[in-house]
Amino acid sequence: MVQVTFVSAAGDRRTLDVRAGISVMEAAVQNGVVGIIGECGGSAMCATCHVHVDPAFADQMPPQQEIEEAMLDCAAAPTDERSRLGCQILLTEGMDGLILHLPEAQV
Ligand code: FES
Repeated sequence: MVQVTFVSAAGDRRTLDVRAGISVMEAAVQNGVVGIIGECGGSAMCATCHVHVDPAFADQMPPQQEIEEAMLDCAAAPTDERSRLGCQILLTEGMDGLILHLPEAQV
C-alpha cells in the first residue's frame, strides 16, 4: 500500500492508504477526495486532476510527457514547476508518504 496525503488549498489534509499501480487521480476519485475531478477519466484531456507535488517527492515522479505539459496550460488554476496531472502519476511503493497540494479550482 502507498500512503498519499492530499492537502486542500485551505490547508485541510486527507490521508489515504491506496494500492500501488493506480493513479493519483483514481486514488482521489475512488475515495471522494474533494478537489480532484478526473473528468476525462485519465486520458490527459481535461486537467481537472491538477496537483502540486510536494518538492520532497519531485525525484519520485515519472517524466512529464508532451501531452501532459500541453494540458496543464489549460488548467483552471495557475500552474508552477510542481504542477502535474494526477492521472499521469501512477503510484508506486517508492512514493509512500507522498504529499500533494490541491489547487483552489479545477474548473
Ligand atoms: S483526469 Fe483528465 S487530465 Fe487527468
